[in-house]
Order: sequence, then structure tokens, then C-alpha cells
Amino acid sequence: MKWRAIVVATALAGVAFGSVLAADGGTHDARIALMKKIGGATGALGAIAKGEKPYDAEIVKASLTTIAETAKAFPDQFNPDSDKADAEVNPKIWDNLDDFKTKAAKLSTDAETALAQLPADQAGVGATLKTLGGNCGACHQAYRIKKD
Ligand code: HEC
Repeated sequence: MKWRAIVVATALAGVAFGSVLAADGGTHDARIALMKKIGGATGALGAIAKGEKPYDAEIVKASLTTIAETAKAFPDQFNPDSDKADAEVNPKIWDNLDDFKTKAAKLSTDAETALAQLPADQAGVGATLKTLGGNCGACHQAYRIKKD
């Protein structure tokens, strides 16, 4: 199950990210901060899906909202003025910016769809996470530089 790997990765990657939605530039730090925010929200959903945390509609709602909003803001970090020389950015993103933005928009839309029909229990959160996780995987596979 893909989301499990994502949740684990998130737990490892994830700590303080603060609110770094400040809309300047398109720096590596800003991008990472947004992804960590998405990762944190996904981790919160994962804890519920795994039964580590009790189902809590408010947390589900807040997490989905964070994912929807952050996924929308994310592509703005890849604008013509941003640091294209940043070795951390996969050059494929600049070459396929439309596809990249489409993938981000899809994640946002899927999160909004899930918000509209809020998953009502642990199983529902698991199913939602599967849908959302497919988006993470698709974009990471295409555009995220692998590091180990
Ligand atoms: C539109 C493409 C896209 C989607 C969709 C996407 N990601 Fe990412 N993600 C990236 C890219 C690109 C990076 C690397 C950013 C960089 O290095 O500048 C990244 C990096 C990350 C990181 C690593 C941050 C760090 O500390 O290095 C985490 C965690 C992450 N994503 C979680 C997620 C989760 C969870 C989802 C799904 C809910 C998701 N991402 C969906 C493109 C995407």
C-alpha cells in the first residue's frame, strides 16, 4: 500500500515547518516547507487510517484543507523567476511545467472532493488516503529527484 510508505517517509522527514506560505520567489526552502506541510497533513490522516489515532472529523477536515490549499500554492514556487539553477530542482519540471501544475491541481481537487464528502470513519480515511497518495506518488516519480 503506497500511502504507508508515504506516511513513514513523512514521519521521518517531518518536523517543524511553520507557516512559510510567504509568497516570495520560489526557493528550495519554500518548496520543501510546502511539501512538508502536505506531508504533515498526510501523516495525520495516515495515523487515523492506521488506527494509531482515533477518528476525528475536525482533524480530517483540517488535514484535507491543508492539502487542498498547499497543493494549490505549490506550483507558484516554480515560476520563471525562481532559482532554476537550484541543483535540487529536477530540470524536467521546467520542461513540463504544465503537466507539473496539472498534477498539483489534481491533488488539490482530489482533496477538495474528499472534503465535500468528508470520510466518516477510519476506513473512509484510508480510502481517501489511497486516492491522495496516488497523486503524491505520480508526481514524485516523475519530478522529484531521488536522494537517499
Ligand atoms: C505536483 C507534484 C507533487 C505532488 C502532487 C506531491 N509532491 Fe511532494 N514533492 C514534489 C517535489 C518536486 C518535491 C521536491 C522539492 C524540492 O526538492 O525542491 C517533493 C518533496 C516532498 C517531500 C520532501 C520534503 C523534504 O523535506 O525534502 C515530502 C515529505 C513530500 N513531497 C510529500 C508529499 C505528499 C505526502 C504528497 C501527497 C499528499 C505529495 N508530496 C504530493 C512534488 C509533488
